[in-house]
Amino acid sequence: MNTCFDKIKEDIDLIKNLSVFKNEFNIENISILLVNKNKVFFIEELCSNNNSINSKFPSTLDNNNLISLACEKNKPIYFYEENDIIYPLNKNFVEELCLPIKLEQNKDITVCIYFGFIKKTKNIQALLSSFLDRFNIFEIYSYVYSKYIQLSETEKIKKLLMLLEDIIETHHPSMRLHGFNVAFWATEIGKKLNFSKDELEKIYLAALFHDIGKLRIPESIINKQGPLANEEYEEVKKHVEFSYIITKEFFEDLYPEIPLWVRAHHEMYDGSGYPFGLKGNEIPLVSRILKVADVIDVLYSPRSYKKNLPIDKIITELKNCSGKDFDPSVVEAALNVIDEKIILPMDILKLKSGQILPANLSLRTYNEIFNLEGYFSNNDEKYYFKSTNTIKTSKDLWNLVSASLVVEILNSIYEYEVNALPLDENTYQITEIRPLERKSYVSILWDLDGNLILQDNKSINIKVKKLSADDLLFVNGDNSNLTINLNNLYKIKLKF
Ligand SMILES: [Fe+2]
Ligand SMILES: [Fe+2]
Repeated sequence: MNTCFDKIKEDIDLIKNLSVFKNEFNIENISILLVNKNKVFFIEELCSNNNSINSKFPSTLDNNNLISLACEKNKPIYFYEENDIIYPLNKNFVEELCLPIKLEQNKDITVCIYFGFIKKTKNIQALLSSFLDRFNIFEIYSYVYSKYIQLSETEKIKKLLMLLEDIIETHHPSMRLHGFNVAFWATEIGKKLNFSKDELEKIYLAALFHDIGKLRIPESIINKQGPLANEEYEEVKKHVEFSYIITKEFFEDLYPEIPLWVRAHHEMYDGSGYPFGLKGNEIPLVSRILKVADVIDVLYSPRSYKKNLPIDKIITELKNCSGKDFDPSVVEAALNVIDEKIILPMDILKLKSGQILPANLSLRTYNEIFNLEGYFSNNDEKYYFKSTNTIKTSKDLWNLVSASLVVEILNSIYEYEVNALPLDENTYQITEIRPLERKSYVSILWDLDGNLILQDNKSINIKVKKLSADDLLFVNGDNSNLTINLNNLYKIKLKF
């Protein structure tokens, strides 16, 4: 009899064998995709970061590329550099091969196995035969198909959550974004504890939904400002059972562990938690992670009734409760995450003399806003901004209304209100540096890929670095020239 563990082992073997094949034949990229009508789903991609095709691939098949040709003709399609009919999916590749698999009973769906090469292959025919000898393409098809079903089911569930977020915002404002923030911390901690990509996806989903049961607790209790009475606290505790029941309905067939993890997210390491008073390793590891991630967000996020706690206090709290409320190994991983992800805004600008940091200076006058690229530096305890571009109408700059300095470091953006005194056409002395209020920036939580859709429907890859109630800040990921007309409206697609 086959068990679900046999299935997991087969999946791992397939990826391992693909990776061996990839190295043996010097293949830069092996991707497995599923095309349903003209929608494309990436199921696996084995490659180095620079040579991905997934990051640039459109989600619908509208061009004449190798994948669309293979699906249309239902036979292997081979592309080589001198062939100018189609463009390579990655411009570094000199040869590409796509092998489509279609089943008679499911004609809308094609599973494609894609190979990309940066060096010419001696014999592509031999490579293809050797692949077909070693791999059972029906096994690959069934692996890909089951992953696709999982993907589309979880997509639906995530969409449902987006709809629920509106209800949460209206009725339980204190819970707003809590699931997303906990998901961020929990997956970062999971990465530190070496969870696989698939397991991280499950942790992410569990975290998103861990408090969904609070929707069934009266608003007057959830939104109460100040301490809860005993009977109110008993009422709040019921949310874990409600979360369990709701996530069981959503995930039972797909990921049966998720409801169990969710139910145990208020268990304490020393056995003093609820609902069962489980202790130590009796509590699932993911629940122990959720517990820590949950507390970090509750302490770190400002609520209507409290300010957010400074990060050093959160670190002390985690250390004090390690071994009591929290699993010490999870706390250790969380402290590493905090160390890497959170830097106190003022510490960033405490440069040693002579050090510089890339920065942008935004100057607002009565008439215009000027954005200067350049760097921030410390010279003998005086701070300067030197721009690498100059402004022609510089006399206007003596009438500054306000100035802000933006620094990008470790994939995060930090923004400060400053006083900027022009010394010459490209040097400003910077004084009175004040980090912007946290409500205006949420930099650590955002490092999203996206597309900016231009007027002519061309799209440009962007990285969103900051998203707040008032504004959105992105960097151009294509390194191409980009001119934006501030009078136009643009669409931005974000990939979560
Ligand atoms: Fe909770
Ligand atoms: Fe929570």
